[in-house]
Amino acid sequence: MDAPASDSGSAPARAESGIDIRIRPATRADIPFVEELYERVEATGAPHWRQNGPSPYTTDWIEHVIEKQPADQILLIAEDPGGKRLGYTWALSLTDFDANVPHGHIAGVGVRPEAEGRGVGTVLVQAAEEWCREQGLAEVTLHCYIANQRAHRLYERLGFEDEWFQMRKGLT
Ligand SMILES: CC(C)(COP(=O)(O)OP(=O)(O)OC[C@H]1O[C@@H](n2cnc3c(N)ncnc32)[C@H](O)[C@@H]1OP(=O)(O)O)[C@@H](O)C(=O)NCCC(=O)NCCS
Repeated sequence: MDAPASDSGSAPARAESGIDIRIRPATRADIPFVEELYERVEATGAPHWRQNGPSPYTTDWIEHVIEKQPADQILLIAEDPGGKRLGYTWALSLTDFDANVPHGHIAGVGVRPEAEGRGVGTVLVQAAEEWCREQGLAEVTLHCYIANQRAHRLYERLGFEDEWFQMRKGLT
């Protein structure tokens, strides 16, 4: 695999539970893992009109980020000391529509069900934040479905504040 886009967070982290979690940039071999877990990330708490599974657009995009390693985004994998994949996060730089300034954005965090509740999600969000900081970005945003209370609690505990509701109405 090519050299990582960044060595952000590549040092092992110790979660609250005491387990060692290694964070590394995703490689081509991680694509099936990320695509499978992405389905869960997209579905958790999603309203019925978003329950269509990942689109071909999304899976193409995951492959693009991992294979091309564009400088403005990164996909990070959390794994245990034995190399078992535990979760992933995807961070990128976006430009705020209103203020027209760049900011970090965490486009997804997913932990495999059997690894939940041991601090993996916390370490992943912190690694994504660290990557954003390294890019010189002064703030970080993310989207969370209103019904996804577990994720919401995690983000609040890590210092995220509610900003706005996005509302939607079907027209067909
Ligand atoms: C949301 C998600 C990423 C959280 O990952 P996680 O690894 O379970 O996160 P953490 O372990 O860091 O924290 C989650 C909870 O475990 C608790 N926890 C963390 N370490 C713990 C430990 N050692 N012992 C007991 N509980 C622990 C945390 O206090 C937290 O509790 P809470 O639910 O009451 O807030 C994960 O549940 C997931 O992938 N969900 C499905 C996809 C999803 O919803 N993604 C987010 C989209 S916005």
